[in-house]
Amino acid sequence: MTNTTPGRFITVEGTEGVGKTSNIDFIRRQLEAQGIEVMCSREPGGTPLAEQIRELLLAKRDEAVDETAELLLMFAARAQHLNQKIKPALAQGAWVLCDRFTDATYAYQGGGRDLSVDTIAKLEDLVQGSLRPDATFILDIDVETGLKRASARSEADRFESEQLEFFEKVRSVYLARAKAEPQRYHIIDAGQELAAVQAQIAEVLEGWTYKPRQ
Ligand code: TMP
Repeated sequence: MTNTTPGRFITVEGTEGVGKTSNIDFIRRQLEAQGIEVMCSREPGGTPLAEQIRELLLAKRDEAVDETAELLLMFAARAQHLNQKIKPALAQGAWVLCDRFTDATYAYQGGGRDLSVDTIAKLEDLVQGSLRPDATFILDIDVETGLKRASARSEADRFESEQLEFFEKVRSVYLARAKAEPQRYHIIDAGQELAAVQAQIAEVLEGWTYKPRQ
């Protein structure tokens, strides 16, 4: 654990249409049942400025978006979110439950866009110092099924409009990161019925200790 604040930092990741929203809500309820104060947030976004950056990032536009510009906007939003919202909540002892974080940058900008992992790692160190999530759930689903679910839900944004191959690369980065650091990542089979997905998540949560950090 690299996060030394009283609260814990939990992130939830996955490709499109994996069901992050309902499962985040499930995790929040399970943690609150343990008497834990939970602050839910999302990336890109989470503060008024970061939400504006999110709108810039997700909007479909005629102009091609430079990949490095996209990467820097992700980290600009993250710097704001981290310093204005995440760190203060953790310092007060709340658990932060975040819909995506830097693993998404490794997966989407590093995998999907093929940007340098070293560059992402440098920006991660610059923006976050040593702060990393304590635990990360990767909701994993066959890419095609996920995209169908996402398109049934709403009109595609700029990322959702990418091709299948892009999301295959995103998924493989998530899985590779989980394999390299199994103590932090929990891969959840999101292709199952919701009850089975939540049972798998509950099993992970049951293994955690809920004592305040010393
Ligand atoms: P969401 O719709 O799942 O909330 O996420 C918005 C989109 O932003 C999603 O398609 C993934 C993308 N994204 C990145 O490309 N890099 C990042 O670092 C983050 C946090 C999100």
